[in-house]
Amino acid sequence: MPDSQQSRWSRYLNHAETKLRKRLRIGHSLKELEPELAEKELFFKAPPLTPDLLKAIKLISPQFLLRSNEVSRRFWELNQNGLSWGEFMALEPYLRQLGTPSAVLDIGPGLGRSTIFLKKANNWQDVPFHLYESTGDSTKYTKAGPRFDDSFCGNLSALESLLIFNEIENYQIFDAADLDSKLAGLPGPYDFIYSFFAVGFHWSIYHFLDEILELMSDRAIGAFTLHDRFTDYDGLSHLPHRVVEFRRSWPRDRVSKMLILAKTEAALGGEGCK
Ligand SMILES: C[S@@+](CC[C@H](N)C(=O)[O-])C[C@H]1O[C@@H](n2cnc3c(N)ncnc32)[C@H](O)[C@@H]1O
Repeated sequence: MPDSQQSRWSRYLNHAETKLRKRLRIGHSLKELEPELAEKELFFKAPPLTPDLLKAIKLISPQFLLRSNEVSRRFWELNQNGLSWGEFMALEPYLRQLGTPSAVLDIGPGLGRSTIFLKKANNWQDVPFHLYESTGDSTKYTKAGPRFDDSFCGNLSALESLLIFNEIENYQIFDAADLDSKLAGLPGPYDFIYSFFAVGFHWSIYHFLDEILELMSDRAIGAFTLHDRFTDYDGLSHLPHRVVEFRRSWPRDRVSKMLILAKTEAALGGEGCK
């Protein structure tokens, strides 16, 4: 069988297996992960999936069917790490241009995978990271939709435990509930601000843009996962920006988009980073 036909078949079988597992409510298999991303160096490490941690994951990532066993723990670990690798590879030219940031803001970190990954992958343990999140008890995800004050579904104590488990240093967690769910009370400026699968993805970037720009230093870059439903690129035309693609580790063969923006073209590396 020709290679392309074989890979189409293997993709089809893979999707069929994922669907069947979902229907039968069987936990994930490691075979569902994109091997090239899942096999990369492990920066994010997952502890055993206790009932409390499973509950926190379920609120933030309702799409997963995880169990309190080693296969689920490994699946979650490899997926969190693999997804972060996909994002990192797309971001790398911009981070190289930026150099070491003086401070970083992670908006909606969930359980902290990106802070953990970026600190370790870039050797940024000394760089202060601020994490803006709140504990919630329901999930209110839209697709690039409106902004709500009560959309937080994180768990601050689980987030802190994950950061400690991964031996992360120099970070501060800001409870959005103490800031009236606004970003304005954060002690910027930041050289790097990002929000993965949160602002830009579930809630349109436009509802946050003014507050984010206010927190960005002149040399800063911002990176935001975009939802497939996001279409209003014209609204960004007044700002230097790029839209880049990155591969996801689950489901296999899935590609998503990330918006990279700055206050100047120079911060984006000029023509080189396109
Ligand atoms: C799908 S999770 C993404 C978590 C993490 N960034 C990741 O990629 O693994 C969305 C996160 O956005 C957070 N969130 C909800 N409302 C928010 C808001 N108004 N501003 C920032 N983050 C918010 C949620 O609490 C949740 O942790």
